[in-house]
Amino acid sequence: MILKMTAMLLSQRERYETPLADPGLMPGVVEEALRLDALGGVGIPRFITEDTEVSGVPVGAGSTLLVNLHAANRDERKFPDPDRFDPRQENSAQHVGFGAGPHVCVGQTLARVELQVCLATFIRHLPELRLRDAPEDLRMREGISAGGFENLWGTW
Ligand code: HEM
Repeated sequence: MILKMTAMLLSQRERYETPLADPGLMPGVVEEALRLDALGGVGIPRFITEDTEVSGVPVGAGSTLLVNLHAANRDERKFPDPDRFDPRQENSAQHVGFGAGPHVCVGQTLARVELQVCLATFIRHLPELRLRDAPEDLRMREGISAGGFENLWGTW
């Protein structure tokens, strides 16, 4: 997630410069990175143990559902301009990048602190950090529920 967040911020450099100009926006920047791109892949799997229905669609026992957290995090009923990176929006932390319900991520507080400390360290020591490669040339390593970069090269 550190690489994904860094790539997301550097691919549109004004995003990286946002916390440089206003360190108070650091939590919002991290939440937006999590909201827009916490997980790679398709979604988190759920194994259906009894016949049920999801949004009017029958789902039989024994099926596997992939819950697409990306779609939930871009629900315009929750985030009015969902594709826009907006660290100032008040509810940016109300995403489901860490899942929801009984299996919600137990490491989310640690993960948030790690991301904030990492980003603060980058911008303090490497304010000129840039991506070496064009964003479209970055190679992703995809999985069903997780994904990231093979590697990420920066210059400064
Ligand atoms: C940015 C980093 C992270 C992201 C995006 C993330 C995301 C998630 C998601 C979406 C789930 C729910 C999976 C599901 O419902 O099937 C989950 C569960 C979990 N996460 Fe994380 N996680 C992160 C970091 C961490 C860290 C740092 C730890 C531990 C130190 C951790 C430990 C766990 C554990 C143990 C569960 C399973 C909880 C359960 O099933 O009851 N995660 N995480």
